Amino acid sequence: MIQAGTNHESHQRSSATEFLRELDTLAADSALAPALRSLLIASALHDDNTGRHTVRVGYIAEVLGRAMGLDTRLCGSLRVAAMMHDVGKLTVPDAILFKPGPLTDDEMAIIRLHPEHGARILGIGDDPLVRMAATVAVGHHERFDGKGYPYGVAGEDIPLVARITALADCYDALRTARCYRPAVEESAVIEWILRERARAFDPDVVDAFQRCVTQLADVHSTVDQHAVGLFDDLRHGTAGLVADGQRAA
Ligand SMILES: [Fe+2]
Ligand SMILES: [Fe+2]
Repeated sequence: MIQAGTNHESHQRSSATEFLRELDTLAADSALAPALRSLLIASALHDDNTGRHTVRVGYIAEVLGRAMGLDTRLCGSLRVAAMMHDVGKLTVPDAILFKPGPLTDDEMAIIRLHPEHGARILGIGDDPLVRMAATVAVGHHERFDGKGYPYGVAGEDIPLVARITALADCYDALRTARCYRPAVEESAVIEWILRERARAFDPDVVDAFQRCVTQLADVHSTVDQHAVGLFDDLRHGTAGLVADGQRAA
């Protein structure tokens, strides 16, 4: 089984260098990993042109998983899988995805296809990491109360990795300025997430969120600092040349 995120002690490992090492480990462990890595880059850059949201959601999901007491290796895999949550948005036309105004019902219906499209893009083979990524992709807009999409499944019928990523995705999306609104204040985001306990979100994930909320704010800012350089390295194929913060000659 592919295992990412081993031998790490804290979220400080969120440096670009260590993430690149993990991707290289994945590439060594799985024949599918290079394709997964390419897909991750395409998805991340398409989403907000920098990959920042994608990277942050991965790290936030990992911190939440650890606050829930999940196995460290599982949390490392979750980090990579959560970064793929919106891969299905590659199938949404830019005119809809980046529309600054409100969406029509038809446009919203197209957006709402992205979880299933993501699962179809990723849903091949037996690779455990890819299977986890597909599970996250299809389930990250489901709600604990069953009012989410695409299937309206509820509670523990939604896989745990998707329930965790759902909160990570909303937290980061609200804390980030979008073309149609400014970033929401941290305190207002926390208040909203607590109100959504057992509604949008799994109560256990919300409880874990409360335990690690300070750490999440830190992840939000530190990963942001690293994201642009990270994806520049990936795009230019220099990932394997990066070691200890220095590029090899
Ligand atoms: Fe999404
Ligand atoms: Fe997202």
